[in-house]
Amino acid sequence: MPYDDLRGFLSTLEKEGQLLRITDEVLPEPDLAAAANATGRIGEGAPALWFDNVKGFTDARIALNVHGSWANHALALGLPKHTPVKEQVEEFARRWDAFPVAPERREDAPWRENTQEGDDVDLFSVLPLFRLNDGDGGFYLDKAAVVSRDPEDPGHFGKQNVGTYRLQVIGRNRLAIQPVPVHDVAIHLRKAEEKGEDLPIAITLGNDPVMAIVAGMPMGYDQSEYEMAGALRGAPAPIATAPLTGFDVPWGSEVVIEGVIESRKRQIEGPFGEFTGHYSGGRRMPVIRIDRISYRTNPVFESLYLGMPWTECDYLVGPNTCVPLLKQLRAEFPEVQAVNAMYTHGLLAVISTKKRYGGFAKAVAMRAMTTPHGLGYITTVVVVDEDVDPFNLPQVMWAMSSKVNAADDVVIVPNLSVVGLAPAAQPAGIISKMIIDATTPVRPDERGHFSTPTRDLPEAKEWAAKIQRLMSEGRA
Ligand SMILES: Cc1cc2nc3c(=O)[nH]c(=O)nc-3n(C[C@H](O)[C@H](O)[C@H](O)COP(=O)(O)O)c2cc1C
Repeated sequence: MPYDDLRGFLSTLEKEGQLLRITDEVLPEPDLAAAANATGRIGEGAPALWFDNVKGFTDARIALNVHGSWANHALALGLPKHTPVKEQVEEFARRWDAFPVAPERREDAPWRENTQEGDDVDLFSVLPLFRLNDGDGGFYLDKAAVVSRDPEDPGHFGKQNVGTYRLQVIGRNRLAIQPVPVHDVAIHLRKAEEKGEDLPIAITLGNDPVMAIVAGMPMGYDQSEYEMAGALRGAPAPIATAPLTGFDVPWGSEVVIEGVIESRKRQIEGPFGEFTGHYSGGRRMPVIRIDRISYRTNPVFESLYLGMPWTECDYLVGPNTCVPLLKQLRAEFPEVQAVNAMYTHGLLAVISTKKRYGGFAKAVAMRAMTTPHGLGYITTVVVVDEDVDPFNLPQVMWAMSSKVNAADDVVIVPNLSVVGLAPAAQPAGIISKMIIDATTPVRPDERGHFSTPTRDLPEAKEWAAKIQRLMSEGRA
């Protein structure tokens, strides 16, 4: 059964031993973020964290690290918690093929229970805000799904975007937003500002676990995240109509914040500890005026720790980046076998492919750089043969160390676009990208002398099973 809201998922996590309730009193800073940070340092199987005894808050329920292990990610997809990561990616890719699945509109959304409007809007009275990294410039809502519409085509359901963009709280009814230029919200905002108009938005917090996955997923501009959520859930995604904007928002959210991105206004936002493992610095970013907050009684505030990988963010944007890249590449190059873009939100991608002819691998790499994700993120592409598993790093290292002749196999394309947060960019937003072709050359590219690869002996599998059996019998 897919989850219609965060609460349903948290109770499954608890039953599965994947949610830890911290009952001792803690400080909002640094305890909440430090505990979430620690989950990324204790190895696989880390639980989600629940806090409701936080000094200074009389009425707080805080969930952290909800997607922050492969076990939790598997459960979010309705898979057994021990499902290996590669199988999770493969299952994700299978479900993708069911896209689009139309959502189901429901009335009586639970977030209709409470409302603040106009001058009464006060984020601090609804959310127990706290800072994450000790150099952060303020409080952040960093796991929201932000809904906006194309101002030139507001009736187009697919062009309505649902995306995760971190939001800094800069007042009781004001937020700052960081729209990376390649992202859909930036396209919507540019169109609105060209007309001199504000851009209405709805910000949904504390969503069901599949909504959080699709909101951070690099899909095509006119593809609907709700229709993708339906495919991944195996059932229509429940949506409801937001009261002020009329936008389609998740039915089960804890909190729905509505307002506008004010046209052509900018204000300093940041610094913020980022997925790159570096702070963003303070930069001028668009600002949001909040006009209405709707929220469930006793709302759960869900937040996400990010900083030096691995953190919850890396689990959340792992498979949801690999699978779109795989599908978008395969649409033109069916030879592509698998994509691993799990590292630092896919600033690096490893792609395995069959080759049609000499030079083919480099063409695949260049296409990866022009996909929706590649445009703003992929700075290094490693291409390997079809029998090298991109998720098996010793195999990838073998290919890189034995197949690459740097003079011809390393290609540098200067001055391409990248997310402004990429620390190596110069200036921010511009970087030289690199292709490392670690495939075996095929005709007419006849470089090298690769002879015949050694393969595992046919009997090795049987022996592996025998050795494991003998070891389990205590004979080692
Ligand atoms: C926790 C988290 C925070 C994110 N913050 C931002 C952000 O501040 N700005 C941004 O443009 N993208 C951010 N992203 C990345 C986008 O959500 C992601 O790339 C998504 O695919 C964008 O989709 P879009 O092209 O539909 O806008 C964040 C993702 C996650 C998971």
